[in-house]
Amino acid sequence: MKPEVILEAEDLTRHYPVSRGVFKPPSLVKALDGTSFTLKKGRTLAVVGESGCGKSTLARLVTLIEQPTSGVLKIAGVDLSRIEEKQRKKWHTRVQIIFQDPYGSLNPRQKVGLALEEPLLVNTSKSKAERQKAAREMLSMVGLRPEHYDRYPHMFSGGQRQRIAVARALMLEPEILVLDEPVSALDVSIQAQILNLLSEIQERLNLAYLFISHDLSVVHHIADEVMVMYLGVPVEFATRDAIFEDPKHPYTQALLSATPVADPFKEKNRIILHGELPSPMNPPSGCTFHPRCPQAIDICSSTVPEIRKVGGSMVACHVAIP
Ligand SMILES: Nc1ncnc2c1ncn2[C@@H]1O[C@H](COP(=O)(O)OP(=O)(O)O)[C@@H](O)[C@H]1O
Ligand SMILES: [Mg+2]
Repeated sequence: MKPEVILEAEDLTRHYPVSRGVFKPPSLVKALDGTSFTLKKGRTLAVVGESGCGKSTLARLVTLIEQPTSGVLKIAGVDLSRIEEKQRKKWHTRVQIIFQDPYGSLNPRQKVGLALEEPLLVNTSKSKAERQKAAREMLSMVGLRPEHYDRYPHMFSGGQRQRIAVARALMLEPEILVLDEPVSALDVSIQAQILNLLSEIQERLNLAYLFISHDLSVVHHIADEVMVMYLGVPVEFATRDAIFEDPKHPYTQALLSATPVADPFKEKNRIILHGELPSPMNPPSGCTFHPRCPQAIDICSSTVPEIRKVGGSMVACHVAIP
């Protein structure tokens, strides 16, 4: 059976006007410059790219924290990009977000049990007893113990705090979870535990994940599909296997060559990317990756590449070959 589409993004764009002083007109930061994808129930789309490529901006749009400058965002078939603020509020609970630093989103003076109950208190008419029961069940679902209910956030390790953040995000029974670098602050051994927990929960609740990471190796086990972004646009889109076995975009190839692989016999030539990510305020002409691309040819600096099918991928690149 085909998995059901729960979210559709079509050419999503977010530009930020920034002031350049009194006498100059403001310029535009094109944080997100046209991104299309779908999320499916029970599946994970990973979004990968260097810091500054627009991943968190995308997360804010998908979680309805911000409105897109243009483009369409549909959840369960309803276009939310143009509806009124009051209407939008109803949809907030269906998409929840988890950040890199769970400490920042937990109140240090609030016991964990109450932190889990708070979303129910604000958004539902559940009784105190019902809220407590739900919070205790959720603690167990994320692998915490009943006595943790009465503890404060500082009494937990980083991995446990991320479990609490997952629990809190799930209290309102969302259909979509946006995970913005959820394990980037954790030790590698703890990362694996949290990734396993997320996989288990996804299977149990049939959730759709938008999993954001700057690190391709982190998404290897959890992703069904991968979207690689560069300077606010997707440059490659493919299944997890196609991305890891036969990446087509030179940028994906470079990211992958910097990623440790499980197979030590796999011959690997490290591709070093020179220079930093250019500013989205003043992006390079043509393919925005061309100044750093080891395979760039003349056309790359003058013409924006259309996204096209190459091998198992959709790729925006003039030189990619099957
Ligand atoms: N509110 C804002 N105002 C101006 N520029 C912003 C704002 N938010 C993000 N940006 C810029 O947009 C680009 C993408 O940022 P972000 O989405 O945070 O990237 P990532 O999460 O991939 O590191 C960056 O250049 C960032 O400085
Ligand atoms: Mg970010």
